[in-house]
Amino acid sequence: MILSDDSVDAIKKTTARYPHRKSAILPGLTIAYRQVGHLNEDLYGEVAEVIGVSKNEVASAATFYTMFPKQKVGKYLIQVCVNISCGLMGAESLMEYLLKKLNVKPGEISEDGLFTVVPVECLGSCTTAPMMQVNQDFYENLTPEKVDQILEDLRKKA
Ligand code: FES
Repeated sequence: MILSDDSVDAIKKTTARYPHRKSAILPGLTIAYRQVGHLNEDLYGEVAEVIGVSKNEVASAATFYTMFPKQKVGKYLIQVCVNISCGLMGAESLMEYLLKKLNVKPGEISEDGLFTVVPVECLGSCTTAPMMQVNQDFYENLTPEKVDQILEDLRKKA
């Protein structure tokens, strides 16, 4: 079992709050993600068992949402939007800048274990392009200087 007793309890409590068990899938996945840092097939099965739904239902929800990484990532998951608005405003160079600065390829973990950079589709913040999401936070209207500052602040917080 990958889920801790605390996570299992939290998922059970969450499930009890909803009239339909399926409604607990996203909150349940969030609890699992917060514990482990990413999701995988085994976790889909464990979350499904605790909630009382099928593994397929949990897997479908998990794979739909980019907020749940599906492999081990750094402490900070940097998701760079590469969709049209961000693309027009320099998402490609933003991505290149980050990869070069952190010396990683997309999806890799930086040597210090802190950062993983991945491209994602529209995050719904198109008017503030180019933008990226780091874990749960949005960073918008980005420039190389802003990115440098963000990375420095994250390193200090790590
Ligand atoms: S195109 Fe980047 S947030 Fe929508």
